[in-house]
Amino acid sequence: TRVDKGGHRHFMAKEIAEQPHVIGEALSHYLTADGRDIALPDTMPDFAGVDRLVLVACGTAYFACVTAKYWFERIARLPVEVDIASEFRYREPPVADGTVALFVSQSGETADTLAALRYCADKAAHVVSVVNVPESSIARESGTALPILAGVEVGVASTKAFTCQLTVLYLLALKAARQRGHLDADALADRLSALRSLPGILNHALAQDRSAKKVARKLAEADDILFLGRGLMYPLAMEGALKLKEISYIHAEAYASGELKHGPIALIDKRMPVVVMAPRDALFDKTVSNMQEVMARGGKVTLVTDEAGLAEAGDGVTHTLVMPTVADDLAPILYAIPAQQLAYHTAIAKGTDVDQPRNLAKSVTVE
Ligand code: AGP
Repeated sequence: TRVDKGGHRHFMAKEIAEQPHVIGEALSHYLTADGRDIALPDTMPDFAGVDRLVLVACGTAYFACVTAKYWFERIARLPVEVDIASEFRYREPPVADGTVALFVSQSGETADTLAALRYCADKAAHVVSVVNVPESSIARESGTALPILAGVEVGVASTKAFTCQLTVLYLLALKAARQRGHLDADALADRLSALRSLPGILNHALAQDRSAKKVARKLAEADDILFLGRGLMYPLAMEGALKLKEISYIHAEAYASGELKHGPIALIDKRMPVVVMAPRDALFDKTVSNMQEVMARGGKVTLVTDEAGLAEAGDGVTHTLVMPTVADDLAPILYAIPAQQLAYHTAIAKGTDVDQPRNLAKSVTVE
């Protein structure tokens, strides 16, 4: 299929804008007709009989896996091991009978992820993949291949594939919670109905593009940028830092807010912008206190939060991006949008090749 930029300046901009639509597509694919349950292929193992889940991927797909660990463990009470494929495959980890090993890949051709999959298949694990390209090697070699339905992604920096991966992984965590007796039918139906309102909420976040662009003009002047988040916002902070590095060539790294005083706080000065991802959730106060430690040392903070968070954040924040309110567990999908917009506009301000950044390939088929 031929794809064009659909009136956008870059494929990346088009793919960011497509997210409400493609997430809607993924939801209509997986939700039952009455919208109260999740339909998975018959080959999919029942999570009730599973005692450990292994999640393996590279890059952005790996950050989707780290996010999913929080969901599976908290909602489904299912222990999760998560690793990058290049480490997992050579560590020769024990893989017990009955382990479900889940591989996430946009292209379905990433060499290290495929090798990790073959390692687990050899050990008689049940291999499940979450892929965008249905005819890919990873999909073909899986016992169960679950499509994310993001459509063709051209930009080297993954955007819509990431949020569609998150959507499918969240559905799996909910299904696991239901099968393991941690969610009753009504509670599941409620969560699915919240999920169905997500595309509309994402449209509101997309409409904040001009604010993100303003902040990005400032970020473009920096040599280093720090991203902070806690809980579900920690993997998202890592994804935000990766996105920025890939296309703007500015060094960025992410820390779990609670780790700040264990080292990285030594870096803080007025020249290194700090992006804090923090919806007003149960961990918000803790993140705010970390943010204040940054500001007390001259750090310039961009706070990405919601109305409630804004009201409670106090003074001293340099920039804010205000997101719509969303159920706590869905925040990573929503907050992916400002992370992408910040990276995109910073890259534009720096004049880099957004869709084809230097040194990178869309699909890494060699180690
Ligand atoms: C994301 O922006 C990157 N270009 C990269 O990290 C990518 O996610 C990684 O190479 C994995 O690719 P895959 O999903 O096709 O396996």
